[in-house]
Amino acid sequence: MEKWVSMPKVELHAHLNGSIRDSTLLELARDLGEKGVVVFSDFEHVIQKDDRSLTEVFKLFDLIHIVTTDHQIITRITKEVIEDFAAENVVYLELRTTPKKNDSIGMSKRSYLGAVLEGIKAVSTVDVDFRPHDAVVRIPKNSPPIYDTCNGSTRKKIYVRLLLSIDRRGTTEAAMETVNLALEMRDLGVVGIDLSGNPIVGDWSTYLPALKFAREQGLYITLHCGEVPNPKEVRSMLDFLPQRIGHACCFEEAEWEKLKSSSIPVEICLTSNIRTNTIPSLDIHHFADLYSAKHPLVLCTDDSGVFSTSLSNEYNLAASAFGLGRREIFQLTRNAVEFIFAGDGVKRELKEIFSSAEQKLDQ
Ligand code: IMP
Ligand code: ZN
Repeated sequence: MEKWVSMPKVELHAHLNGSIRDSTLLELARDLGEKGVVVFSDFEHVIQKDDRSLTEVFKLFDLIHIVTTDHQIITRITKEVIEDFAAENVVYLELRTTPKKNDSIGMSKRSYLGAVLEGIKAVSTVDVDFRPHDAVVRIPKNSPPIYDTCNGSTRKKIYVRLLLSIDRRGTTEAAMETVNLALEMRDLGVVGIDLSGNPIVGDWSTYLPALKFAREQGLYITLHCGEVPNPKEVRSMLDFLPQRIGHACCFEEAEWEKLKSSSIPVEICLTSNIRTNTIPSLDIHHFADLYSAKHPLVLCTDDSGVFSTSLSNEYNLAASAFGLGRREIFQLTRNAVEFIFAGDGVKRELKEIFSSAEQKLDQ
């Protein structure tokens, strides 16, 4: 694994609450058990398991949703998730999260996002670049690309950008509220919008007005697309021309053709697809076909906590399942810099990171 851990990586599809550490979830579930909010023994064995079934995955999401109704816990999860990605040399991270509201504890969607921002500020093991507007960023000449020197010590650095998720269960108004929050928080590092949630719920026409508005306002857009068979929706999503899509599992021939001719980059989440049974096995995963067609792709985790994976593990999995070497995986990641939701300044810095890492690749 070390060769994948040491490689610089970009993570473009990570749901904040799906990326929670097992140890944190266990601790929080025990606390909630003591307070009588949940029955701890119902969750204990599921949290401690590595290989969770789909039913167990949803059981964990249920627990996570109970846990994430506290501002301090959201702040803690955010901090830890960023530190965990940085620890495995993710140099650029786009985190996505669904703004949540809970009147009973005074949580509004805005205050939920405030807690996320606090978590980003609280990161202590690594320097976080959370600059909002690339256009006004001035990159100092000859600045070291991956490490910043701070008080004489060399510090690791990670770029973090935030996407707000529209939940498929919501209304057009709720989707619009999410887009408006993203616009309001643009100066605080929110760069785009994601559409996610249970794929068998909701209709594309519900979210379309908000997504159109988001695009008019210059926000980047990525859509969970084709997680279940729904050719009409897949076609509408591809016609919308989002900057990226996630998964692309249940496509038919016409949709593959449409996708390939559009060159919309695809966020590939191997473990997630297998665990959720969206794809029966890796030997028939569409990664292979898209890769050989040179379609833009990026390997991602989706929910590293819930699916017990890491980005290094996803790289390892792709390498062994599709017969790719270290250089090929490195090049795949390096190519993904072109479709991150950040401006030219950040892309330039990331390219420098990859150029210097390339020299050490064969050592
Ligand atoms: P959060 O938005 O930070 O709370 O992250 C968890 C949420 O992300 C879940 O409740 C879902 O709405 C969404 N999510 C996570 N994984 C998936 C997936 O595989 N498909 C669709 N939505 C997902
Ligand atoms: Zn996802």
